[in-house]
Amino acid sequence: MKKKGKVSDFRYDTGAARVPWCAVGEPFNVDDIVRFIQFLLPCQEKKKQHYTAALNKVRTCLVQLGQVAGRAGKLTLGNEVLQAEAAAAKFLKVRYACLLTNATAGFEIGYKYAGLKAGDEVIAPAITFISTILYPLAVGAKVVLADVDPLTLNMDPADVARKITPRTRVIVPVHLGGYPVDMAPIMKLARSQDIVVIEDAAHAFGAVYRGRMVGTIGDFGAFSFHEVKNVNTLGEGGLLVTNLPFGKQFPQARFVGLDPSRKIPNWLYDVLALKSKTGYAVPANHSATEIQALAFQLQLARLKTIIAQRRKNAAYLTRRFAKVAGIIPQKLDDKNFKSTYHLYLLQLDPGQLNGDIQDFKKKLQAKGVVQIPHFAPLYKFSIMRQLGYDTAEIEKSCPVAEEAFRHRFTHLPLYPLTREQLEYMADAVIDCVRSMRR
Ligand SMILES: Cc1ncc(COP(=O)(O)O)c(C=O)c1O
Repeated sequence: MKKKGKVSDFRYDTGAARVPWCAVGEPFNVDDIVRFIQFLLPCQEKKKQHYTAALNKVRTCLVQLGQVAGRAGKLTLGNEVLQAEAAAAKFLKVRYACLLTNATAGFEIGYKYAGLKAGDEVIAPAITFISTILYPLAVGAKVVLADVDPLTLNMDPADVARKITPRTRVIVPVHLGGYPVDMAPIMKLARSQDIVVIEDAAHAFGAVYRGRMVGTIGDFGAFSFHEVKNVNTLGEGGLLVTNLPFGKQFPQARFVGLDPSRKIPNWLYDVLALKSKTGYAVPANHSATEIQALAFQLQLARLKTIIAQRRKNAAYLTRRFAKVAGIIPQKLDDKNFKSTYHLYLLQLDPGQLNGDIQDFKKKLQAKGVVQIPHFAPLYKFSIMRQLGYDTAEIEKSCPVAEEAFRHRFTHLPLYPLTREQLEYMADAVIDCVRSMRR
């Protein structure tokens, strides 16, 4: 049987045989495709009549197309995934790239490489999303939260240095909002003690630190393509990259250890454990779909424009805010730190105001400007207490994170806002702060 082309998952041949194995068990028809179109390009209530007319034209064309079209050969782990990974590796200048269900899966694979187990320690910043530390919590490793830099809210290398112990196995810097962590001191600390560094680059696909792509500086970098990110792959998605030889095991790490290049007698493939730094680890299923891979390639092709637009929006806000007493605007790019501008970090100086960020957030919300909901310090969440962490002690060890969360910071959106939305948001922020002036 002749192979149709190179695919990343060789469990079955699709295509060339007279009765090929059918990868897509139940195909999608023209009506289904019309529904997909309506889902991705929904009707605007005001333009319903025009929308219906245009959709009818599309349906007519699609019926014609359906009469001459073949069937999709594969929906998961096929050529699109391979092409997406090759494009990602080239863009990031990294050896191995693996498209996944999400960034959380990427962290899991990195932690498995480190051989993380109960009793080991992991240092993560106090301010991040819970995903960063889920795997260590799951295996009973101890999560140590490092305090953050007061201006960027990224992990503070000096506090990491204070909190490293002989049991530290992994450090996870998080490039919050897409702004690069100062990686040099963290890498120096990690290398002095054979500690694995997993970059949480969930917000930072396309960010640059001292001329290097963020996510490729540590041992691993995991990116998120969840729907709110600057690159999205239709709802969920992620990418893990590494320059370590472990990258050769990415296909097995992603899909249940299956290795079709090694066959056991009378069967098509073998199943392998992952060779970690310390022994063997059990793989899981984090497979990415072809449609995610296609979405990634389409968005990657316009990433320069996407980031440039976000940078422009951020620069506008910073320009407006820089003139206002009581606001500490987001740092913009310089030679060494280039952000993706996933989010705009807005900070207040409560010393100059009556009230703090909590009062400000209420005022801003009342003006119809909604903020990003998800970055409270991790020690605030019940899960840590439930798992036996002394959260009051952790809070005491992260005074900057605590003060920033309570009094100083929030994130504003930067996604392709209209000019009107951007100006309205800037005006609203400035009005709220002015109304709080002492
Ligand atoms: C800082 C951070 N890390 C990790 C993640 C997890 O990404 P994913 O949803 O792709 O697993 C997120 C998601 O928003 C995040 O904000």
